[in-house]
Amino acid sequence: MSGINVSAQPTEGTRIIQLLDTNWKFFNAEVQGGEQPVLNTESWQTVEVPHDWAISGPFDENNDLQVVQVNEDGEKVAKRRSGRTGGLPHIGIGWYRKALEIPVSWKGKKIFAEFDGAMSHARVYLNGQFVGEWPYGYASFSFELTDKIVFGGKNLLAVRLENKPNSSRWYPGAGLYRNVRLVATNPVHVKQWGTYITTPEIEKGNGVVAIEISLEGLNEGNKNIKLTTNIYNIKNQLIASVTNAAEGVKTKQKLVVDQPHLWSVTDPYLYRAESVIEIDGKKADQYETVFGFRYFKFTNNDGFFLNGKNMKLNGVCMHHDLGALGAAINISAIKRQLTLLQEMGCNAIRTSHNPPAPEFLQLCNEMGFLVIDEAFDEWKNAKCANGYNTLWDKWAEKDMVAFIHRDRNHPSVIMWSVGNEIREQSIKGGEVYCKFLVDICKREDPTRSTTAGFNQWEGAIKNGFADIVDVPAWNYKPQYYRYIHEKFPQWTMYASETASTVSSRGEYFFPAVPKVIKERVPYQCSSYDLEYPGWASTPDKEFAAQDSFPFMGGEFVWTGFDYLGEPTPFNDVWPSRSSYFGIIDLAGIPKDRFYLYQSKWTTKEVLHLLPHWNWEGMEGKPIPVHCYTSFQKAELFVNGKSMGIRTKDPSKLYTTYRLVWDEVPYEPGELKVVALDTDNKPIKETIVRTAGNPSRIILKTDREVVSYAEKELAFVTVIVVDDKGIVCPGANNKISLSVKGDGKLKAADNGDATCLESFVDPVRSAFHGKCMAIIQSTAVKGEMKLVAKSPGLVNAEISIQIKK
Ligand code: GAL
Repeated sequence: MSGINVSAQPTEGTRIIQLLDTNWKFFNAEVQGGEQPVLNTESWQTVEVPHDWAISGPFDENNDLQVVQVNEDGEKVAKRRSGRTGGLPHIGIGWYRKALEIPVSWKGKKIFAEFDGAMSHARVYLNGQFVGEWPYGYASFSFELTDKIVFGGKNLLAVRLENKPNSSRWYPGAGLYRNVRLVATNPVHVKQWGTYITTPEIEKGNGVVAIEISLEGLNEGNKNIKLTTNIYNIKNQLIASVTNAAEGVKTKQKLVVDQPHLWSVTDPYLYRAESVIEIDGKKADQYETVFGFRYFKFTNNDGFFLNGKNMKLNGVCMHHDLGALGAAINISAIKRQLTLLQEMGCNAIRTSHNPPAPEFLQLCNEMGFLVIDEAFDEWKNAKCANGYNTLWDKWAEKDMVAFIHRDRNHPSVIMWSVGNEIREQSIKGGEVYCKFLVDICKREDPTRSTTAGFNQWEGAIKNGFADIVDVPAWNYKPQYYRYIHEKFPQWTMYASETASTVSSRGEYFFPAVPKVIKERVPYQCSSYDLEYPGWASTPDKEFAAQDSFPFMGGEFVWTGFDYLGEPTPFNDVWPSRSSYFGIIDLAGIPKDRFYLYQSKWTTKEVLHLLPHWNWEGMEGKPIPVHCYTSFQKAELFVNGKSMGIRTKDPSKLYTTYRLVWDEVPYEPGELKVVALDTDNKPIKETIVRTAGNPSRIILKTDREVVSYAEKELAFVTVIVVDDKGIVCPGANNKISLSVKGDGKLKAADNGDATCLESFVDPVRSAFHGKCMAIIQSTAVKGEMKLVAKSPGLVNAEISIQIKK
């Protein structure tokens, strides 16, 4: 067994933080048999953490097959739901082990194992002795190992995880899917998440910084303890400093930053506080906290304000999985998601329905997203038989406190959501649970608002739920915003879930009319973005409501990206295994809807035309053509013949936000839309051409260089085109992906919610002409080359440089 190199001498006075990422041994009890394997780990797989043991599959409809009645979907009887959690083998017991060599020189230190999240029911052992447990798979936690450590020798850290069937409504992932660290501190040190920073006077323009520092390990002997906090700006210049004697377990300090630079979604300016402990003149610990100055409020008539400026929350809900990478976190993969969302004009995320990875919030701080940080999808009343309800009594307070302590310094986080569509909403007495959680929020962080997502609005109002949270929020209720506002004019509110429009990239079904979709073979939804399940609607409907009602603070679309599991509306038919709700597909390729939101949420010039123009056999027959555009007016042409001018017409919902030509006779060739100004002068054009037969592959990478140290991934879109370079919208060629040089294929996907090819299989079918290869470097420096081949097509390759 190889251990990590922790033999380096700690720098005097500072804590040592070691990422435990390599050389873990993993044992999957479901696959390898037996609950507790022998200590010999030879048969164990060597893995890197973050790790998701289930993501490589195989897909199977019997994996966590649930027979449930989903009240939220309006079901009256229990129904067989295959693919509800993604059809991946995440159920069962998994063991992780890691050898640690702890040097003798660490004697006298306190040693902790920190977990950012472990899915789920984690039980941690050191050298065969139980250390602690934390069952909620989305929680971050830490255990002290000190008294079980062999200093100067080998130690074995082991984690047992267990995912029970019927415990989730989506794919939760499996294993040590977030980072794990070993932390060594001096006996007196800053507690985990032991700083709390607020900026109490920023609304008045004063840069007062109040910091509360919690220490651990104090004893009678510690008399002369000094605490210094230094504040640095984004250029790393020291701009404020204060030193006090420690006041005991908790010390409060105040500093003033001159002319504080505000954090906002367009200018996410951050500061860093460095807290230093000195005992008898010797440095004992140093702890860093990133924070920002910003203030916000929800108002009952004018919606949301950030730093005194009125704005709409143009938000999306996001589950935590990263598509083909599963739940295993990777910073570049999260950043890529956020970059695409930002390009679309998204400025806010609701972390549905659980605490996200810490890195996600750091990126939101750095990139400028407002976050609704959500704690739970379930309380004491079950949505899933083995869901959070089984933990509620023992864990709710602990989970809530850990969640708030971890996240309360992030400027991006503006609200604590205590729950989503909680069943207690409409249960008499349910408000007691709500108050319990809201009180914890107010006790642990009175600076942020509390909220919850209500689908049963009448119940939530009747039992007082909606009054207990600061900002009640509605899931799928645009038709009631006015009514609720008139009845409760004092309330501030926003839409916590909207649209739930379903679509599959590249699929178009006629006629293009708004409709509740329940069944269709094949199991795909139309990309005219007019299909939705019974409780939901279209993007257009929510746009209209948000535009009509300034008191609404904005919306959070369900969802930004497709996610694994919950394949509504085909949730009872295999092989549907991932969602159709995303604006962007599971592979990270934008669907048409992306441009509809972009046309509404940004000031960019958007002129996007749909559908594709390959309708062999439909010659002369009418095809609906839609244009998602920021322009008011445009003219459509087929092979140069005008199909008429359309102007956005707010008298009808489906012409307010898009331009529609209902019946365009199909003729192969060129479909062109020309945006016009008020004098009918052309401003911009977009052309969609009929593609010929698939002829070659082209590759487009989202980056030319990756950093090895940051475990950066490159996302390469693989596109099947004809001999003129036009994307073939019907192409489903099987593409072999291989990586030469210093890299490897990490995963591949095509965004098809019914595809059962494993994400780690090097052969991937294109879906509507496209798929995605995710590649990773295997060496510190060098070059990796992705090669894509398919019989009958001209191959393609692309090189990516690797830097340290
Ligand atoms: C909501 C729920 C989400 C998701 C969505 C699908 O009711 O909060 O988690 O299930 O419906 O429309």
